[in-house]
Amino acid sequence: MLTTKSLGQTGLDVTPIGLGTVKLGRNQKVNYPDAFALPDDEQASRLLAQARELGINLIDTAPAYGTSEERLGKLLAKERHHWVICTKVGEEFADGTSTFNFTPAHLRFSIERSLRRLRSDYLDMVLVHSDGNDCDIIEGYGVFAELEELKRAGLLRAYGMSTKTLEGGLLAAQYADVVMVTYNPNHRDEEAVIDKCYQLNKGVLVKKALASGHIHQAPDASADFVQSSMDFIFSHPGVSSAIVGTINPQHLRDNLNKAVIALTHSQDTAINNPNSSQASYDE
Ligand SMILES: NC(=O)c1ccc[n+]([C@@H]2O[C@H](COP(=O)([O-])OP(=O)(O)OC[C@H]3O[C@@H](n4cnc5c(N)ncnc54)[C@H](OP(=O)(O)O)[C@@H]3O)[C@@H](O)[C@H]2O)c1
Repeated sequence: MLTTKSLGQTGLDVTPIGLGTVKLGRNQKVNYPDAFALPDDEQASRLLAQARELGINLIDTAPAYGTSEERLGKLLAKERHHWVICTKVGEEFADGTSTFNFTPAHLRFSIERSLRRLRSDYLDMVLVHSDGNDCDIIEGYGVFAELEELKRAGLLRAYGMSTKTLEGGLLAAQYADVVMVTYNPNHRDEEAVIDKCYQLNKGVLVKKALASGHIHQAPDASADFVQSSMDFIFSHPGVSSAIVGTINPQHLRDNLNKAVIALTHSQDTAINNPNSSQASYDE
């Protein structure tokens, strides 16, 4: 069975790889190296079935990912309880343009809409989808107070923020259950957020583990850039899971295999160096 890890103190257990689903719902104004067509329902359904067969339990979506939420709602309706579904609030994407709204009224509206789209009566996780002004959003809109209220009302199980700054990540680590940060061998700027989450036992989801598909373009990129990234990410014991976006079945399999190898390396290192901090994955 695939290893899982506690997502901080949320009570949720997540697999080392989560499936990112931008490419299931949106192919406009994205930052991937190549243009692509959205997979049809049969291809999407096969990809989700494969993720489930591999043991993956975590899936990441957002209202800003085009039709991603609606498609997942339709394709996962009969297996809702297998999945830990993470969605977001605050960013909308329509007619090729992103807009942002972090008011309590919009958060509530967006979460009720996500529940309808995902055909569920609860959301496992809701993250504030930052526009880059992390601290202003946290301090100016009371986003976590509103999400805490919706959590108490039973609409969601955990909340947090997908941050874009070090300061915002540190603030989110203090007040939320989960922080989603960019972390890969080319981007270490937010590592202190993971350190802080580890100290406070908060969940950490890594986004852009492969630099949105650009990681191999770095001058010092290794031939096996996926393994290098996974080794880098999972050497930090604070990382709960890496959300990797793919619509390619072989890539999905490789990403998981290489994440498991990376975890095994990091556990071996921890056993051989008992004074180093170590991750606690459960079989
Ligand atoms: N909250 C936010 O602000 C935010 C921002 C960005 C992302 N995210 C979340 O994080 C997820 C991941 O981020 P991301 O999609 O931007 O970047 P990513 O996971 O770093 O990279 C995805 C890109 O890498 C390619 N890829 C995946 N596995 C590969 C492999 N084994 N070998 C070669 N290429 C591979 C994918 O293409 P193929 O389809 O061909 O595999 C895709 O183009 C998103 O899907 C989303 O769920 C959140």
